Amino acid sequence: MEALKGVRILDMTHVQAGPTCSQLLAWMGADVIKFENPQGDATRGQLRDVPNADSLYFTMLNCNKRSITVNMKTAEGKQVFVDLLKTCHIIMENFGPGVLDRFGFPWEKIREINPRIVMGSIKGFGSTGPYAEFKAYENVAQAMGGAMSTTGIPDGPPFVTGAQIGDTGTGLHLAIGLLAALRQAEHTGQGQYVEVAMMDGVMNLCRVKFRDHQRLQRGELAEYSVPTYKGMGEVPRAGNDSGGGQLGNAIHCKPHGANDWLYVVVQEAVFGALASRIGSEVGMPDMATDPRFAKISDRRKNQNLMWTLLNKFAEQYTKRELMKILNELDVPCGPIMSTEDLADDEHVRGREMWVELDHPQRGKWFNVGMPIKLSASPARIKRSPTLGEHTEEILRDVLGYDEAKIKSLTSAGAFSIPPKKAA
Ligand SMILES: CC(C)(COP(=O)(O)OP(=O)(O)OC[C@H]1O[C@@H](n2cnc3c(N)ncnc32)[C@H](O)[C@@H]1OP(=O)(O)O)[C@@H](O)C(=O)NCCC(=O)NCCS
Repeated sequence: MEALKGVRILDMTHVQAGPTCSQLLAWMGADVIKFENPQGDATRGQLRDVPNADSLYFTMLNCNKRSITVNMKTAEGKQVFVDLLKTCHIIMENFGPGVLDRFGFPWEKIREINPRIVMGSIKGFGSTGPYAEFKAYENVAQAMGGAMSTTGIPDGPPFVTGAQIGDTGTGLHLAIGLLAALRQAEHTGQGQYVEVAMMDGVMNLCRVKFRDHQRLQRGELAEYSVPTYKGMGEVPRAGNDSGGGQLGNAIHCKPHGANDWLYVVVQEAVFGALASRIGSEVGMPDMATDPRFAKISDRRKNQNLMWTLLNKFAEQYTKRELMKILNELDVPCGPIMSTEDLADDEHVRGREMWVELDHPQRGKWFNVGMPIKLSASPARIKRSPTLGEHTEEILRDVLGYDEAKIKSLTSAGAFSIPPKKAA
């Protein structure tokens, strides 16, 4: 049995932050009803690679869901929404501020209709505070949550990271909150409002940078390879520094292409073996006993020399060759893997993290798999729904509407966009 079997979710989310959460819950067995504007989630048509087919942007974030289209700007559409609310355990949304209120369904009203329901809401900045009214996208959250100011090199511009920490990161936070609230509702019979602000989620993911922010009040950050000093105030961008108690950096390897790099952590326990192995090849046979590297504090101080020596050693090896040499010494390391490397990787395929699916509009395509492996209920990934694919099925099987009712709601425009008025 799937872990969330029997949990029904009214999923009004769109774009990435919300759908990534509801897809995970669907992969854990929840019945996720994607409740769409009759025009469809905007991402269905964004960045299309196949004409007239749902884009990969959409298909990769909406697997294992059922789609119903409902026009919330009609009285009949609102009635369908209310009926669905009564049958669901969770409702979730990530509209811009105030959209649900404008539909006439603030949280208080939703709770009145179904006191057991758990409501999940993602906003850029939450529902309180000076930023509450603003919309947000991924990189706005990365900018405002501390990630961008701490990513890059000191003399360069701030950088966004490729990992979608603002959107998908927030979706993960929401999933945790929803499951906790669901558990509480099972005990108390009462639902609650679960809010995750993208800015808060990014701050949570930047926790170690706020550790360093406070340490700067007492002194320099000795493990940083870039200059820091007591009272500096802002945590600087520090390139590929490890950010932890062990020193680390990216080392450029043969043949020195864009992704020919190996990330190496010079863990305290392995420094001796590492220095003995590379010392003679870089013209420093006594590297293991050199006083500049004697203790971790010395290695921190002289880390740029250590990285130079490691880069020199790496000139003769590819990232995979260097990985092998270092793994034999128990040095934690990993090649910088491109998307191409990952799509072809035996380990990735073996762990079902690059999964082939079929789709009626686009044919074969791949999705990134389920990263949470439940031993008793592994995820079975199914393709995303086409727009409104399950409208009738949901009206009939979930709400028990008969043919006559479906017909009358359909002709009243409950499931469609109003026709454009003639000019
Ligand atoms: C992502 C975001 C910026 C997109 O903004 P947007 O395209 O203007 O969309 P909004 O969510 O503000 O508005 C959706 C519109 O669709 C309409 N709509 C949505 N579902 C509908 C339905 N079933 N029937 C009728 N209309 C519907 C809403 O009424 C609203 O129109 P309105 O402004 O006239 O009320 C915004 O939704 C947002 O800030 N969300 C919260 C943060 C977030 O999740 N961002 C990450 C996205 S990956």
